[in-house]
Amino acid sequence: MPLRVTRLRAIARDIVHLQLQAPDGRALPGAEAGAHIDLHLPSGLVRQYSLTNALGEPQMAAYEVAIGLDAASRGGSAWIHEQLRAGAALQVSEPRNHFPLDPAHYRVLLLAGGIGITPVYAMAQTAQRRGLDWQLVACARSLGRIAYAEELLALAPGRVHLHGDAEAGARIDFSRFLNAQPWDGVYACGPQPMLDDLAQRTAAWPAGRFRCEKFKAEAIDSALDQAFELVLARSGLSTRVEPGEPVLNAMERLGVDHPFSCREGLCGACECACIDGEPDHRDQFLDAAARAGGRRFLPCVSRARGERLTLDL
Ligand code: FES
Repeated sequence: MPLRVTRLRAIARDIVHLQLQAPDGRALPGAEAGAHIDLHLPSGLVRQYSLTNALGEPQMAAYEVAIGLDAASRGGSAWIHEQLRAGAALQVSEPRNHFPLDPAHYRVLLLAGGIGITPVYAMAQTAQRRGLDWQLVACARSLGRIAYAEELLALAPGRVHLHGDAEAGARIDFSRFLNAQPWDGVYACGPQPMLDDLAQRTAAWPAGRFRCEKFKAEAIDSALDQAFELVLARSGLSTRVEPGEPVLNAMERLGVDHPFSCREGLCGACECACIDGEPDHRDQFLDAAARAGGRRFLPCVSRARGERLTLDL
């Protein structure tokens, strides 16, 4: 969708808030908390940002996102912070949601690190509307880096805990919040070390109680990659995929126009079906149950374990 930036303002240190609307004012497709949109930047980069105002309405007047300045930005967040201005036009995808609040969860703990506050802020608003028993913990290097702090404190002051490492003199210890009560669901978004720590602390919990959204892909080690033959069954095409070459790139070499977004194994936009061969899953999108079925495959990062892989394309 071609949308226009109708508002752009700094809301915390190194975080800007964007409001995007249709140029003709028409309503936009609605979404639930946890949903994200893709922003297509003029450089060709596509970046995913969580909607902070996705509250389950069927239509929305505007999409709102917050974007942190990534010190290692490859032109995404840095361009938005330095070059983007109110009034600019951007191509934007419809919302997709891989991080929804489970409607069966009543006691809900929301954990946010840094810019990971964005889906969690929408979840807090939704939890308050639904009358859930919820708590939110937001942490960052300093309190001035926590976006939506005032809004959250106004929403439910007794349910919101803010932690700045600089002010507290130490990093937060999540264990007292995790152990405060038997949560139905713990939802976390933040940097990888925080998510790894939480995954370790909740490893013995029943599946589905701890859920997280990553906003950065882990590095992939291609050192032991082997070449293999890629067969696209329905189009009757095949090619050799070289070590280090993404399957998606090999498909594009064949002239196949396949959907994608992050190209990092995070978003699921490129998912297709594998009908023969053993996938070597390298994404962070499919969980163990989805992989066990043996058919779901993300060609932007995943490869084959054997000599041949056949996709239903
Ligand atoms: S394009 Fe995002 S997972 Fe493949």
